[in-house]
Amino acid sequence: MSVRILSTSPLVGNALQELGNTFPDLLIASFRSSDWDAALGSAEAIVVMLSEPVTESDIQAAPNLKAIGTYSVGVNHLPLSACDAKGIAIVNTPGVLTDSTADIAMALLLSVTRRMPEGEALVRSGAWRGWAPDQFLGISLAGKSCGILGSGPIGKAFARRVQAFGMDPMFWDREGCGGSVDYGSASAPRLALNDLLRRSHVLSLHCPLTDATRGLLDRNALLELPHGAVIINTARGGIIDETAAIELLESGHLGGAGLDVYANEPHLNPKWRSAPRTVLLPHLGSATVETRTAMSELLCDGIARAFRTFQ
Ligand code: DGY
Repeated sequence: MSVRILSTSPLVGNALQELGNTFPDLLIASFRSSDWDAALGSAEAIVVMLSEPVTESDIQAAPNLKAIGTYSVGVNHLPLSACDAKGIAIVNTPGVLTDSTADIAMALLLSVTRRMPEGEALVRSGAWRGWAPDQFLGISLAGKSCGILGSGPIGKAFARRVQAFGMDPMFWDREGCGGSVDYGSASAPRLALNDLLRRSHVLSLHCPLTDATRGLLDRNALLELPHGAVIINTARGGIIDETAAIELLESGHLGGAGLDVYANEPHLNPKWRSAPRTVLLPHLGSATVETRTAMSELLCDGIARAFRTFQ
């Protein structure tokens, strides 16, 4: 079987089919299926999803590979050094999912702090007996501070959103350069991690998973947060020590968690399902028709560019 473009899934919109028309042959085969394995040897580009870790062995088994496209902005599931050494282009989808990911972080923050899933479940169950003064009391956002790990486009887009809700955003000073971050509508201070954590009523993660951020929020870091702090994670599960986070939710030190991402997706730690004051989404950050269509176009343009560069 000779295949030029090997994708593990169709993509939203027409871009992948059009790429296949321009550069035949395209095969869509599930990740690590026998068809995928058989086609890898001839593939010049592979397209994978963020849940499909590509290994150095895959690179060795694909001597014609010119590009790896991932239908995500995150590239933590790709063998970056091996690709770099072999001149294989990495094509991801930055920029086009900034607003939709910041939106889902904001949706999680509102859902957790206003206890929307509990309220919705009560109404839906038919057991609601009417308005009550102390029913499902939540936490107000206005006047609270929001620590943001990551001062890239998504972190800044989230800062604009929380500022609009009356919160004070602050960014992690990852490089130790001090000063402030201009996030579009205003600027916010850049603080050392522990300083940021101690002041964060809400902490939202918008940084990539790398060797430097894996396990960054361990138990000690989480204990620096004020009692009752809320964590929002739309970045990657591996940045948080999930066992510690679950225990701190159970103890009440953490006031809530809104999660779109988990370590080892989709096999999440089963304790998340019973952890108190949590809202759990199935990695929906970029999941709008407009965004996924734009991601497909960006990804396929990038692969076409890589093919032309290597021609
Ligand atoms: C990505 O594309 O890497 C994000 O996780 C989207 O949610």
